[in-house]
Amino acid sequence: VCGIVGYVGHRPALDVVIGGLRRLEYRGYDSAGVAIANGGRLAVERKAGRLANLEAQLDMVGRDEFAGTSGMGHTRWATHGPPVDRNSHPHRDGTGQLAVVHNGIIENFAALRGELEAAGVEMSSDTDTETAAHLIAREYAESGDLPASVRAVARRLEGAFTLVATHAAEPDVIVAARRSSPLVVGVGSGEHFVASDVAAFIEHTREAVELGQDQVVCIARDGYQVTDFHGEPAEAKPFTVNWDLSAAEKGGHEYFMLKEIEEQPDALANTLRGHFADGRVLLDEQRISEQDLRDVDKVFVVACGSAYHSGLVAKYAIEHWCRLPVEVELASEFRYRDPVLDRDTLVVAVSQSGETADTLEAIRHARAQKARVLAVCNTNGAQIPRESDAVLYTHAGPEIGVASTKAFLAQIAANYLVGLALAQARGTKYPDEVAREFEELEAIPDAVRRVLSTVAQMRALARQLADAKAVLFLGRHVGYPVALEGALKLKELAYMHAEGFAAGELKHGPIALIEEGLPVVVVMPSPKGRAVLHAKLLSNISEIQARGARTIVLAEEGDETVRPFADDLIELPTVSTLLQPLVATVPLQVFSAEIARSRGYDVDKPRNLAKSVTVE
Ligand code: F6R
Repeated sequence: VCGIVGYVGHRPALDVVIGGLRRLEYRGYDSAGVAIANGGRLAVERKAGRLANLEAQLDMVGRDEFAGTSGMGHTRWATHGPPVDRNSHPHRDGTGQLAVVHNGIIENFAALRGELEAAGVEMSSDTDTETAAHLIAREYAESGDLPASVRAVARRLEGAFTLVATHAAEPDVIVAARRSSPLVVGVGSGEHFVASDVAAFIEHTREAVELGQDQVVCIARDGYQVTDFHGEPAEAKPFTVNWDLSAAEKGGHEYFMLKEIEEQPDALANTLRGHFADGRVLLDEQRISEQDLRDVDKVFVVACGSAYHSGLVAKYAIEHWCRLPVEVELASEFRYRDPVLDRDTLVVAVSQSGETADTLEAIRHARAQKARVLAVCNTNGAQIPRESDAVLYTHAGPEIGVASTKAFLAQIAANYLVGLALAQARGTKYPDEVAREFEELEAIPDAVRRVLSTVAQMRALARQLADAKAVLFLGRHVGYPVALEGALKLKELAYMHAEGFAAGELKHGPIALIEEGLPVVVVMPSPKGRAVLHAKLLSNISEIQARGARTIVLAEEGDETVRPFADDLIELPTVSTLLQPLVATVPLQVFSAEIARSRGYDVDKPRNLAKSVTVE
């Protein structure tokens, strides 16, 4: 949560910073602000609401004041204090000479604020960030050394934070510190950047440096210096970003999410590529020995939101292939209930961003209990993979739309690879069986392409149902997590009441919700692959049809038995049972996006949400 960008170079900093914020707005859009060093003073502007509000404000006050070549900006997802101008970043000290932007939560801010107020400092916001601004300013007044001042304050802060500071008297440098929140440096020619995500500077450079835990970086036009919080030189990891600007742009689509839905076949193919060689499934970074994988006697998947749903899908595959018990747990619940973990437990942490605080804390808890942690992540070098024993990267590319689409499908595919790697290590599947499963996975990108070529029907249906009060989603077996994901998408994008249920549970309560005309989406299993479940679901549909629901049924092509039960029938390509979520999810993504569009909502930036949730 919150996007941060800082720049020192030769271009007009305001343009660079606003351009960066535009690409970081997915991280939060409660307010935006900039501070540009110009002629011995800081020009600061901040505004509640979307970045567009800030830009309009800048046009009103005139951009001449913001003419410098160093500066920083922030896009906020509110934690402390409502999203109003006064709480927008940057925050300044009393003199207005120093400004700070911040991502994360300073957990001991109340004590620090008390200390400052006792010393007569007047606060002008409700935020935790403002305390950092005053503290750094106090240090600077004594030492005149900006990096040393930031380090001194970073040592005092508790919680997770990325802090970036600029001082009017030092227009040639920007200083940033990080603990458990993301921060990368962009290395250009005669210019340097700091940002929460490489997307902020990808149009200027693909050369980047990933800062480690508890590090401070000072960027200048011609270089950068990294130290620890005590000023000792520290190592940070350089890398080259393997995607370019076009991946971070809409490419003719009205919304990123619509582009990302279309990109799913490539996201899947890229995630699978290179993971099967010489008859074996390979992970990316494996710091867990084959022997330890053999010794695993229990698997936990921990994740949040859609990533959690990808874990629910994985449970069916891993239990089936590996004969291991698998528990799937919401990361936010995991560590608070004393789960039974030991060195033979494998914890699979699934996270697109690799930053989600709930998931990060869950793996820290697991590792403290000696469990092995394997991360499935879409962001190279993010905190969760850094703190894990093994990593499998999803190669979905940057996902900008706040609602997860291509990253979700890539997570399912990657989780399957984890299952196959485990089955192979434990010998619960013969090598030729593993090879066959991998081949089936490799055919999925084409199947998803076929689904994408038929979604017009789903779009039309969505427009018809745009005014529905609620929608229910039903499934069994792997269709159940698909139902949950379909409901989550509809809630978050269309702000519509939606619930996903295991179809068999319906008669234990939720069937009371069924009324005339209520749309109910049903994910049917294959009549061949899961004949028993198929028959049971047909009974479930007839129960709801008898009570007047409007049934929208997703079923395998050629499944004629379902036709009499479907008011609307959406056909899916034939794939094996375990892989069905990879095709069945796609029409549901389109459905939610189209309802949101019809209702006039911003599909990429649903209200109250942010893409990376770095607070618990
Ligand atoms: C829903 C969605 C969220 C995320 C969740 C986890 O569309 O995007 O539910 O899946 O916040 O995020 P990551 O995967 O970054 O840990």
